[in-house]
Amino acid sequence: MKIIFFAVLFLFFLQVNLQANDFISAKEYSKMLYENPRGIGCNKCHGANGEMQILGHYEKKGKRTAFVVPSIQNLGFEEFKKSLNETKEASSIMPSYSLTENEILVLYNYIQEKTKEQNNAKQ
Ligand code: HEC
Repeated sequence: MKIIFFAVLFLFFLQVNLQANDFISAKEYSKMLYENPRGIGCNKCHGANGEMQILGHYEKKGKRTAFVVPSIQNLGFEEFKKSLNETKEASSIMPSYSLTENEILVLYNYIQEKTKEQNNAKQ
């Protein structure tokens, strides 16, 4: 009986210890990466949740035209990864990043998570 008690106690402290060692949660890490990815934060152009953004307006042939940043909420992982790895066209304002495959996956999952949260909040 005593052994079981101490075993449970030991497991309890082990768990407390493991939690204490987890400085930041996976979610905190992905938010950090999204807002500070060794370069200008994704959120500056794609907003907090990756939804479509209008960054501003400009005149084009006398017409007021919106500068639209497309939504990145409904992409498949391969598309998402491709556009982060490809060399951008000169006309693109999106910077090129040197992110690892794992970082791209973290960012992708973060956007998926934020999209879900946003959709749930709307219901
Ligand atoms: C300075 C603004 C800016 C920043 C910062 C930025 N983007 Fe973009 N992003 C754009 C624009 C504008 C597009 C539209 C395509 C283009 O112009 O290249 C785009 C396109 C994309 C696409 C492709 C969308 C599609 O439909 O194919 C993905 C994925 C993406 N961005 C993810 C990110 C991630 C992740 C980050 C941060 C690591 C980031 N972007 C940072 C402006 C930005």
